[in-house]
Amino acid sequence: MPTPRQTLGPFYPYGPEVESDADLVTVKGGTGTARGEITLLGGRLLDARGRAVGGARIEIWQCNAFGRYHHPRDGRNVPLDPNFQGYGVATTGEDGAYRFRTIKPVPYPGRTPHIHFRIAVRGTPLLATQMYVAGHPQNDRDFLLSSIVDPKARERLLVRFEPMPGADTLAAKFDIVLDNDGTLQRG
Ligand SMILES: [Fe+2]
Repeated sequence: MPTPRQTLGPFYPYGPEVESDADLVTVKGGTGTARGEITLLGGRLLDARGRAVGGARIEIWQCNAFGRYHHPRDGRNVPLDPNFQGYGVATTGEDGAYRFRTIKPVPYPGRTPHIHFRIAVRGTPLLATQMYVAGHPQNDRDFLLSSIVDPKARERLLVRFEPMPGADTLAAKFDIVLDNDGTLQRG
């Protein structure tokens, strides 16, 4: 089943970003590590036939541990985190795998925790979506998550955050399935 689409939202980065690597919890010139629960977030990008999509650009963005986006449109009176990048880009390998180091998302007024995703293949944006924390009590009241009526489709966006044995880090796996049959891969 393809990953359901979700709106880009008002805080899609306007660029150019200060930094856009796949490690969102350290920033050049920063004073340490981002606040929040450090999470290794990864998964695979597949086309509609289940084939790996390599060389795709995966962008993510999310609010910091205090619930604020590092975006000029988010003017709420909540601290910025100088060590949180807020935005990152990864490229999928030949096996479709991608990986980020970021924080477990937190709620902000009006929204349950989520991480925004945008996927582009060969420069063509193919999918915007949001992933959510499985089991979070605010999920049921979230207007965007609830807008997906089919429970099986909604399930595709719910991700478990689990402690990694022997490490002070969480792991989260989010596989993404495009609704395209793969013709884009052949250009
Ligand atoms: Fe958001």
